[in-house]
Amino acid sequence: EKAEIGLIGLGVMGSNLALNIAEKGNKIAVYNRTVDKTRSFYANAGELQGNIVPTETLSDFVAAIRPPRPIIIMIKAGEPVDQEIEKLRPYLGKGDIIIDAGNANFHDTRRRFKELEGTGLTFIGMGVSGGEEGARHGPSIMVGGTEDSYKRVEKVLTSISAKYAEDPCCAWLGEDGAGHFVKTIHNGIEYADMQMIAEIYGILRDGVGMSAPEIAHVFKEWNHGRLNSFLIEITAKVLLATDPETGKHMPDVIVDAAGQKGTGRWSVIEAQQLAVPATVMEAAVAARCLSSMRGERAEASKLFNHEDLDFRIAPGPWLNRDLELALFAAKIGAYAQGFDVMAGASEEYGWNLPMPEIARIWRAGCIIRSQFLDEITKAFSETPDVANLIVTPAFAAMVNECLPSLRRIVSAATAAGLPVPGLASALTYFDAYRQARGTANLIQAQRDFFGAHGFDRLDGLDIHHGPWGSGAI
Ligand code: 6PG
Repeated sequence: EKAEIGLIGLGVMGSNLALNIAEKGNKIAVYNRTVDKTRSFYANAGELQGNIVPTETLSDFVAAIRPPRPIIIMIKAGEPVDQEIEKLRPYLGKGDIIIDAGNANFHDTRRRFKELEGTGLTFIGMGVSGGEEGARHGPSIMVGGTEDSYKRVEKVLTSISAKYAEDPCCAWLGEDGAGHFVKTIHNGIEYADMQMIAEIYGILRDGVGMSAPEIAHVFKEWNHGRLNSFLIEITAKVLLATDPETGKHMPDVIVDAAGQKGTGRWSVIEAQQLAVPATVMEAAVAARCLSSMRGERAEASKLFNHEDLDFRIAPGPWLNRDLELALFAAKIGAYAQGFDVMAGASEEYGWNLPMPEIARIWRAGCIIRSQFLDEITKAFSETPDVANLIVTPAFAAMVNECLPSLRRIVSAATAAGLPVPGLASALTYFDAYRQARGTANLIQAQRDFFGAHGFDRLDGLDIHHGPWGSGAI
């Protein structure tokens, strides 16, 4: 009996995905460039060995799979993927499906999809979220490619994906790069969520003077409320951990410079290309960049006097409640922007991205999974063509309820000299978005003054240039 699916690349994510596939009753052929890895993977597969076909050459690997053959490639994103496709192609036949499950840039996915068009082979770009644990026991799976090719793999993919209640967190989202694009925005939102949680931590640590375990308590409590989510849960856990080397709280021994592999940045670059405001994600990416400039920050901390600042923020139950609502309001802003970017891309690339479906498959398995995503699923299902998440009745009500808290927290943090770029961007986004009469009239006047760029008038008169004088004032 042939394997239902194949997988190339037995690194951490690939191995876990392969074990997950085998465990759910699907026979899988596996291949890795270094044969030793394939052998040790198989040797350690225990009772799952029965569903695994280890292979040591590409031709044996391909021959072990039932045509049309779906083949998952789980290797380092970028150039290596192109090389692997080239190596694989000579062995493949009509209808075979190459599935890139890495964190690919969706532009590459679109190119690869196009390159294989007309060759008889098809390409799927598959976003997989949930880290190692998710890959092994149930990730969220975002698929882009032809709908037909998805049908060939739907059964296997839904069997291995996370479930929200009974509902599989896996869906076909559109042609070519749709899946990888959605995964990129997922990561942009992930950056925003993490940044704003870190800002709240900063307020409690530096403004209130609380210890890591004390702060853990606050997050733990929030995890039972409207902020209930994987990221809040793990934040409480990391704040509670103790360093076995020194006995200190874990967060207190870790260098304050955040790494980034690029997906968050891509989401911001794409937002800019599409001319969609994504200020919270931008703030989060910029904050990671600034965090890594540790030397410069250390110098600057000596250079700029902040004697006039009182970093303290008064503790108390009102503060915790305000922080909770502030974070919730800002989270709404970040997600509204993320979905807005997806709406822009959907139009630009002709994907017809299903917003309720995207929110639905993010409810479990992925890093940003939360109860909140269930609310988004409902809002987009009830009002599918809404311009922005925040104007759906349910979310407008939530924003109205929580915005005063966000305003108080951003004001208090700013007055205390504590940076809250994510929270502040969200607040400013709301304030600008709800402003019926903005200030861009002045920009239009300036543009017309120096470049005769023209403007439209409120009264509709067909006059598009100003009577700007040229004399000195
Ligand atoms: C996920 C994660 C995963 C990875 C991030 C980390 O959804 O499972 O997003 O893809 O952990 O890409 O990204 P950074 O290294 O850029 O923080």
